[in-house]
Amino acid sequence: MSAVERDADQYEVVSAGYTAPLLAAAGITVGDRVLDVGCGYGTTTRAAALLAGSGRVLGNDLSPAMVAGARALSAGVDHVAFEVGDAQTHPFPDGGFDVAISRMGVMFFADPVAAFTNIGRALRPGGRLAIATVGAPEDNDLPGLVAAAAPGADAVLALSDPAHLTAVLGAAGLQDITVRPVATTIALATDPAAAAEFICEWGAFRGFLTAGPAEEFTARRAVAAAALTVAAQRFHTGDGIRLRSSAWLVTAVRPA
Ligand SMILES: C[S@@+](CC[C@H](N)C(=O)[O-])C[C@H]1O[C@@H](n2cnc3c(N)ncnc32)[C@H](O)[C@@H]1O
Repeated sequence: MSAVERDADQYEVVSAGYTAPLLAAAGITVGDRVLDVGCGYGTTTRAAALLAGSGRVLGNDLSPAMVAGARALSAGVDHVAFEVGDAQTHPFPDGGFDVAISRMGVMFFADPVAAFTNIGRALRPGGRLAIATVGAPEDNDLPGLVAAAAPGADAVLALSDPAHLTAVLGAAGLQDITVRPVATTIALATDPAAAAEFICEWGAFRGFLTAGPAEEFTARRAVAAAALTVAAQRFHTGDGIRLRSSAWLVTAVRPA
């Protein structure tokens, strides 16, 4: 298994529970042109392509490494393309998409109104937005667990207040906004040490470990793993490390 496949699998451990609800909310039909924002390794991009059939799906991500991984994992998949770009400013074609989706790719914008305005501009009039974004903090164990070793990791909660989320989408010019919770359980690992290892190896976390002097990486990783092992104790069940996870499943429409 390649490093990209391993990392992509880790994203699935965390987020796979949201794929089916997201795609159901998106209502993609054959021929649709779909934009997948913050697509990461493209799992939902490829799933959308199966639904869009003769249509086409564009995966967008800020990270060149994620896009390279998405392209590698999508070899042989028809009607799928990927582009590196900041969704806040990327020059998507005006009205070029029938549907925009995102699984956990919209919480990192410095200016969320600008981002959703840009995404809305990329939708045709009447086009639909469907996103899954991290839900209420009290229903989500992972951000707090990761924050035990990486202060700032709870930045993923940026859109976790549904009133704020609705206001952002409204300010971006979208309408018919619906927000509903959807929950899943993350079976992270067998025990606390394995949970710490999972997080230290996960691409979403590695940036915290690699920031700083390279010669101190091993020590930094050991400190992080020790803190994560302690923090993971309280999620240790007879069934391994199990985390509560909840997302807001959001739909909206670009006015016709
Ligand atoms: C938690 S990952 C989710 C990836 C993927 N959607 C999934 O479900 O596996 C968040 C992704 O959003 C991307 N991202 C963050 N800020 C972005 C931005 N401004 N524009 C586009 N992508 C962004 C990151 O590079 C990362 O791949």
